[in-house]
Amino acid sequence: MYKLSIMRKYFFTAMFLTLLISCNSSDKNEDITLKQAFKDIFYIGTALSEEQILGEDEAAIEVVKSNFNSITAENIMKSEVMQPIEGEFDFTLSDKFVEFGEQNDMQIIGHTLIWHSQAPDWFFVDENGDDVSPEVLTQRMRSHILTIAGRYKGRIHGWDVVNEAIEDDGSWRKSKFYEILGEDFIRIAFELAHEADPDAELYYNDYSMANEGRRNRVVSMVKALQEQGVKIDGIGMQGHLNLNSPSIEDYEKSIQEFADLGVKIMITELDLSVLPSVRSNDGANVKSTFEYNEKINPYKDGLSKEVEEKQYQRYTDFFKLFVKYQDNIDRVTLWGVNDAQSWKNDWPVEGRTDYTLLFDRNNKPKEVVKDIINIVSNNN
Ligand code: G3I
Repeated sequence: MYKLSIMRKYFFTAMFLTLLISCNSSDKNEDITLKQAFKDIFYIGTALSEEQILGEDEAAIEVVKSNFNSITAENIMKSEVMQPIEGEFDFTLSDKFVEFGEQNDMQIIGHTLIWHSQAPDWFFVDENGDDVSPEVLTQRMRSHILTIAGRYKGRIHGWDVVNEAIEDDGSWRKSKFYEILGEDFIRIAFELAHEADPDAELYYNDYSMANEGRRNRVVSMVKALQEQGVKIDGIGMQGHLNLNSPSIEDYEKSIQEFADLGVKIMITELDLSVLPSVRSNDGANVKSTFEYNEKINPYKDGLSKEVEEKQYQRYTDFFKLFVKYQDNIDRVTLWGVNDAQSWKNDWPVEGRTDYTLLFDRNNKPKEVVKDIINIVSNNN
């Protein structure tokens, strides 16, 4: 009898201590921020808007400083902003962006040197409006890349050198870069970026990278660049997700095939839309937009619990996948700080209310942030 009472006492003490530790550990998780949780796993980044770079969004900036250790310029380093007129560079915003990153000891990512979209019209035409020659376009790329990447030499960790050169089916996008220079514009861009800043990492970045056609073309493109001795350090998988696509399996297959190339993988523009797709594959091709109607904006007054839980499950499933490949994934960047900033509120349909990111419109962390942090805290 006596023994039994001792054993019972030990059992309840052990139970109490376990409960206390588990409560403490989850309380402990309460205080851990994203960058603290992932400090030994991969960089956790966010995209900064113009307002945030100008310091006009203090609440969002506080979220950035506490939760992220990598920053990407969402828009202000695109060629139409950096060189709106040939030979006239505007570094006002990009200087502030880089200074913010240095002042806060963050990894700084340049986005993007060569992209068919948001490129100024003058880039591809002569004074008569006709396409320029391959030589002239190459010279314009040289001037653009060496001036910008050269200015931030040694200060920017990595560049999205070429963005979105490949279509869903794996064919080359018929951009002006492609029409005038062929696929060789990609090699030229990477070689110029390396010349401008030999120590910067150089990435190819694209969306819908779980698509088999794009995956296969990216693999063959990277292999070709490697065979030509071109420095390419990583592949950026943008990560613009929906509730039902892409599948984890397809995404994982791309991670595996890109990792087999011996380059780093970055999830560069992660967000998760809950809104109904307006066509089969939303992708992220900014050129396609659609008419507004109430039916495709079902959550303007808030998310249903069911949809919220579905989104949270998708976010944790993808973060579990990223942690599984932490030896290959160097960075996961959210494409914005809070839901109000998300490009998906106005693309592919203007005026909708989406809930794509990890912090809400009041800059508060969503429930899912705790779940994401627990993925790594519980593993350690
Ligand atoms: O800055 C101007 C402002 O002066 C003007 O008053 C206003 C209204 O015309 O437009 C503002 O520029 C907008 C810019 O975002 C800054 O807000 C552009 O019109 C708008 O097209 C641009 O959208 C960006 C889009 O790329 C196109 O550049 C989105 O914010 C940005 O999230 C999105 O990001 C892209 C990545 O760079 C590449 N991968 C796909 C991803 C989503 O499209």
